[in-house]
Amino acid sequence: MSPVKPSILVTGGAGYIGSHTVLALKQAGYEVIVLDNLVYGHQDLVEKVLQVELIVGDTNDRALLDQLFATHQIAAVMHFSAYAYVGESVIDPDKYYRNNVVGTLTLLEAMLAASVKQFVFSSTCATYGVPQEVPIPEDHPQNPINPYGATKLMVERILKDFDAAYALKSVVFRYFNAAGADPYGLLGEDHNPETHLIPLVLMTALDKRESVSVFGTDYPTPDGTCIRDYIHVTDLASAHILGLEYLLQGGDTATFNLGNGNGFSVRQVIHTAREVTGREINLVETARRPGDPPILVGSSDKARQILDWQPQYSELSQIIKHAWQWHQHRHS
Ligand SMILES: NC(=O)c1ccc[n+]([C@@H]2O[C@H](COP(=O)([O-])OP(=O)(O)OC[C@H]3O[C@@H](n4cnc5c(N)ncnc54)[C@H](O)[C@@H]3O)[C@@H](O)[C@H]2O)c1
Repeated sequence: MSPVKPSILVTGGAGYIGSHTVLALKQAGYEVIVLDNLVYGHQDLVEKVLQVELIVGDTNDRALLDQLFATHQIAAVMHFSAYAYVGESVIDPDKYYRNNVVGTLTLLEAMLAASVKQFVFSSTCATYGVPQEVPIPEDHPQNPINPYGATKLMVERILKDFDAAYALKSVVFRYFNAAGADPYGLLGEDHNPETHLIPLVLMTALDKRESVSVFGTDYPTPDGTCIRDYIHVTDLASAHILGLEYLLQGGDTATFNLGNGNGFSVRQVIHTAREVTGREINLVETARRPGDPPILVGSSDKARQILDWQPQYSELSQIIKHAWQWHQHRHS
């Protein structure tokens, strides 16, 4: 019999990246407990599809967290829960600082009180701001240009200080653009509202939207549209298992980019989606959005070297194919 692996608390496990990571944790033999306030998460996904314990609650609820840690043997926490709409964070920064910073601080305090000292954190390439070089390495200066990115950078700073003062060890993952869906069709991307390019393109292919907007066609890129680094959500999930095991084996606090190292323009994404779906996808060219850097591509060499992370689904067509499978099923 294989030894029982420890229990992992996954905040935001009813959301997109969290749910794919819960699946990977289960497949790797871990016990999983999900904490999600269901503001954006999907209850059925956790209870019926993933079949793990769901605690409906908020990371800002210290009493609930204390009870959770008192009644479960938690070895480590994976913290996905946050608000992540960049535009909204500009209009309503209070909501973002309260949830993403204060909520995380409350969670960390509850962990320390329960002597749980291993933490995997979902950070973002938005902490870099406008890049000075691409691919962006982890030691690139961090100058976020919106409150969302600032909240994630603040948590990164808290984690450094909590390691120095309280020996709380963390792995910080700075994701580039999460995309795709579980290759076996169990899970996928289901944000509401949806702001990510690939689902918007596929919803247009399914006639759920009239067209997809291309924000800016005069960027200094080969076809004039923005270039982004798309990383398959299942590859993100596998990196989380490696990051968790690195910590459980006594690894020190570390930060890793998670991206493909390849960039694709908005036009390339739409072109590939037309090929994958065989459908016409209407696009509307509009003005640039403020605060969109022309190119965001990350170097993930560090994760490959230290965690031995090997992404399996690097091809854009594969990423879109899996997302397409999911969207067809979701909207059937
Ligand atoms: N999707 C991306 O491309 C991307 C890129 C970079 C970073 N990230 C980060 O990854 C994480 C997950 O992103 P996602 O796309 O899966 O988002 P998501 O919205 O699908 O999932 C977040 C989940 O957290 C829950 N939640 C939010 N606040 C909570 C709180 N206070 N208490 C309990 N639950 C709460 C929501 O209900 C939701 O289920 C976020 O922290 C996000 O900032 C995402």
